[in-house]
Amino acid sequence: MFDPIEALKEFIRHPSVSADPAFADGMRGAREFVAGLLASLGFKVEVVKTDLHPIILAERTGPATWPHVIIYGHYDVQPADPLNLWTSPAFEPEVRGGRLYGRGSADNKGPLLTHIAAVARLLARKPDLPLRITFMIEGEEEMGSPSFSAFLERYRERLKQADFVFLSDTGIPTPDQIVITCGLRGLVLCDVEVTGAKTDLHSGLHGGVLRNPIQALAEICASLHTPDGRVNIPGFYDDVLDVEPWEREQLVKLGGNAEQYRSFLGIPAFHTPPGYTPFEAVRFLPTLEFNGIMGGYQGEGTKTVIPSKALVKISCRLVANQKPARIRELLYRTISERMPKDVAFRIIDQHEGTPYVVVPPHRSNSPKDQSPVLARAFDAADDAIAQVFGRPPLYLREGGSIPIIADIKRVLGLDSVMMGLFLPEDNLHAPNESFHLGVMEKGMRASEQILEQVASAAR
Ligand code: BES
Ligand code: MN
Repeated sequence: MFDPIEALKEFIRHPSVSADPAFADGMRGAREFVAGLLASLGFKVEVVKTDLHPIILAERTGPATWPHVIIYGHYDVQPADPLNLWTSPAFEPEVRGGRLYGRGSADNKGPLLTHIAAVARLLARKPDLPLRITFMIEGEEEMGSPSFSAFLERYRERLKQADFVFLSDTGIPTPDQIVITCGLRGLVLCDVEVTGAKTDLHSGLHGGVLRNPIQALAEICASLHTPDGRVNIPGFYDDVLDVEPWEREQLVKLGGNAEQYRSFLGIPAFHTPPGYTPFEAVRFLPTLEFNGIMGGYQGEGTKTVIPSKALVKISCRLVANQKPARIRELLYRTISERMPKDVAFRIIDQHEGTPYVVVPPHRSNSPKDQSPVLARAFDAADDAIAQVFGRPPLYLREGGSIPIIADIKRVLGLDSVMMGLFLPEDNLHAPNESFHLGVMEKGMRASEQILEQVASAAR
């Protein structure tokens, strides 16, 4: 059995930034590391080529009477910059205060290794365990998984034989309160580029005769919300559904101290649509955010210029039952209608993802035809987490997105059991990302117990 913490350090040392071609070596290193580890556990490993970053598929096969779990994870990470804000270098893992620091430690290398280590321990203890296990580990999650649907279509017949998907790529509030994530938000992303004059202009020579593209863009941006914080696009909320009472009860159990959350964020006040607490808003409502804006002179001092172009990057988070194509249509129509006629503009499509919900068994709205193995996995997770962490899990939606989870449901018909493992303090996508090693150790025990319980359904 390998040492999980040493393995995680080695994994982090491979700088696998999927978005940046300069990190091709790191991507290959991380991939080979995972593939090698799984092969050493007796898995039959395939590295499946895609248009960009290969997907690792590793199987432990068995008779069709054995339950079959797919364990999902991603070996790619977000870029590490701004590098100067890291206390220890992003790709030189370091343990401090019970945490392992490094880019990808929490998203998603630590949680992925938690499950690999759990499987290793379980198979060492029970070499004949009646459980089929397929690891499916991609390298494009942080860039919107462009290759994943084609991969699913290609491997559909094989993968749809599984009973459910198991993963840890979502969050928890405290180290002793695990959350089973029952919903993920969807996404619609685009850029809007506004062009005024065909070149930058002297703002004295020509100022006062044309609309500045930064101004046009700012007017559009400002029009996309109402003052009370709702998204100001006709029809935007039409498909948003009411939430079942059991979900609200779970949120009450979460408790959540709004004042604490406010000071954690470091903001003077919340700006939440009327009638929603911040904890509700982040889970139950869609959003429209500006992720970046550029245009004009960005350097030291001044430059008296009317820039030729301005650009904004927009992302909408979608909740259950909203359709990305519909939201894209409404967004584009609104921008087009409101755009001043004295500038030119174009909207550049970026990627998207469908929102996802899964209802655990024994709830008011649990599907009647829910897979018995999936139901068993939820029950096993409830028991294992209560035992290992000292409290049963909460069942909550997340504000974040993992678009492939809805794709897996659409293409393979499989639902996902998402055991959250990362904390608000883990600094995902930010400098000084870290993973809580106590959570990792307990997560391994919980995962091991869940998989063992699922296997006991073998016929
Ligand atoms: N692990 C996160 C998703 C996540 C974050 C779930 C926080 C729950 C809480 C994942 O790696 C991620 O960052 N996803 C991106 C979307 C992707 C298409 C770039 C996200 O949510 O922005
Ligand atoms: Mn992730």
